[in-house]
Amino acid sequence: MAEFEGLAEPGSVEAELLRKIDRARMPRHIAVIMDGNGRWAGLRNLPRVSGHRAGMESVREIVETSAKLGLEVLTLYAFSVENWKRPRSEVRMLMNLLKEYVRREIKHIGESNIRFRPIGRIHELEPSVQRVLEQAVRSTRDNSGMLLYVALNYGGRAELVDAFNRMRRRTGRAGTMRAITEEMLTQHLYTAGAPDPDLLIRTSGEMRISNFLLWQIAYSEIHVTPTLWPDFRRRHLFEAIVDFQQRSRRYGGL
Ligand code: FPP
Repeated sequence: MAEFEGLAEPGSVEAELLRKIDRARMPRHIAVIMDGNGRWAGLRNLPRVSGHRAGMESVREIVETSAKLGLEVLTLYAFSVENWKRPRSEVRMLMNLLKEYVRREIKHIGESNIRFRPIGRIHELEPSVQRVLEQAVRSTRDNSGMLLYVALNYGGRAELVDAFNRMRRRTGRAGTMRAITEEMLTQHLYTAGAPDPDLLIRTSGEMRISNFLLWQIAYSEIHVTPTLWPDFRRRHLFEAIVDFQQRSRRYGGL
């Protein structure tokens, strides 16, 4: 179990929250729908890009904090298959920010023993983005600490379709396919081998799943905070974990 030292100043709100966290009942996997960058910028009469840039700082803090907390997996929803509907200029800017983030942070990610893995239809992204991602995957693949999934050109339905098609290809000619089981499907998801999220966090108050990890969140606890993503700091992550630990998880039982 990771030590929590260094995560909060003595006497701070963060320290108080950390005190409430039971180290023996930590979530293994937290998934986050990072929402509200545009609204954050709008409230300040700034262009949307400023919201995304500020959101990148939240990404940095939450990745670092999650690793220090000893999480096994952190999954961040950065760009959905639906986000291509945004103006081209915003899409380009998001891709540039992503490249900037990866280039800037990969050394630190590596030193923090984090494994970086993009999930989604990565082959559809522009080549320069793919190259940066491949390099990041290669340089961190032997790390043994937290697995960081960044969902890019990701859709939950697309992931399921891709999983079914992978199974179909593996089993050869149509008609010779074995009956599909939950285990088989799980093994063909982008997240194969990782535990399902225990906790799903959504920022900015929207009560939607937005096509995120549809299969994997079957029994995840959901924490929605009104905080906009660029304002989301480690204290908000601690609050979400405290909330999670107050839930009674029954998985359909009594
Ligand atoms: C949602 O806010 C956020 C996104 C679509 C993109 C998330 C991207 C980042 C946090 C920055 C870069 C990412 C990484 C992984 C470094 P929104 O634009 O939908 O906000 P709105 O609903 O208020 O308009």
